[in-house]
Amino acid sequence: MGTWHKIIFGDCKDMREIPDGSVHLMVTSPPYFNAPFDYPGLFKDYDEFLDLMRAVAKELRRVLAPGRLACFVTQDVRIKGKLYPVVADINRIMMEEGFTYRDRIIWRKPEGYIRISRRSGVQIQHPYPMYFYPDNIFEEILILQNGKYRYPKINPDKFKPSKIDMREFNEGKWYLSVWDITNVLPLKGRLEEGIAAFPEEIPRRLIKLFTFVGETVLDPFLGSGTTTKVARLLGRNSYGYEIDLELKPIILEKIGYSPHPLTDDSFEICERADARKLRTFLQGRIKRQKSVTKKNS
Ligand SMILES: C[S@@+](CC[C@H](N)C(=O)[O-])C[C@H]1O[C@@H](n2cnc3c(N)ncnc32)[C@H](O)[C@@H]1O
Repeated sequence: MGTWHKIIFGDCKDMREIPDGSVHLMVTSPPYFNAPFDYPGLFKDYDEFLDLMRAVAKELRRVLAPGRLACFVTQDVRIKGKLYPVVADINRIMMEEGFTYRDRIIWRKPEGYIRISRRSGVQIQHPYPMYFYPDNIFEEILILQNGKYRYPKINPDKFKPSKIDMREFNEGKWYLSVWDITNVLPLKGRLEEGIAAFPEEIPRRLIKLFTFVGETVLDPFLGSGTTTKVARLLGRNSYGYEIDLELKPIILEKIGYSPHPLTDDSFEICERADARKLRTFLQGRIKRQKSVTKKNS
């Protein structure tokens, strides 16, 4: 049997296309607030970011089936020296909406990965107390549960396609609360260039661990389309929301879209009136900020 995938270009604070209780797992990485490299000025202020997360939490409570999970890949964001507690705030907002805090996994990146700055360099310049600023090499995967899950009676024949490969599970150390996974390298010319995509291995593990074949996965902040791609490869259906219309060709390429697919898989792409051309807008803003900084230096 083929899978279906629905991609909606529009604001995910309203997921009207999804019927109540019809999603079995949410995997996402929300925009990193106003992170200087990726999303400068995307939100007016931190409260506006939190308002979006509140609206998304409300929709997640509605669309997730009972007992199913919402997984957020995210990290606190530092802007001009101030650290915003994104992880704690998303957790609190989800719990206020009625979710249970089930688990937290640390996604550890290779040590050579330090994208923004080597903060620890300060200690090298000043080898004295109070100059310690660690380099960040991890993100968190927050796992929240929508009420109680009723475990089905396992029928080995029916459930065979969804059985976890225990060799892969053990060899990859999936059983630990720290997952060592290489990040998507920020190489020029990559399909995901400038998108802050997560590696396929993250949705791959979460989808295998928390859904059965034929069930439905949602990513409200789809970016380059990683979750849809992996859901399709694993025989799951999907919904994806993305506000930025300019990501459409990237998403279509990544998910292997074809209006006449050679497989039984089907795709539906909708553009809502609230979609925007976000990338051009934000890139313009970065350029303007850089020229102001240059002028002032
Ligand atoms: C961190 S990226 C997601 C990357 C994705 N996990 C991947 O692997 O490519 C966050 C995405 O959320 C999108 N976004 C921001 N605000 C949104 C909103 N209100 N509704 C839908 N998408 C939004 C951004 O345009 C961006 O592409």
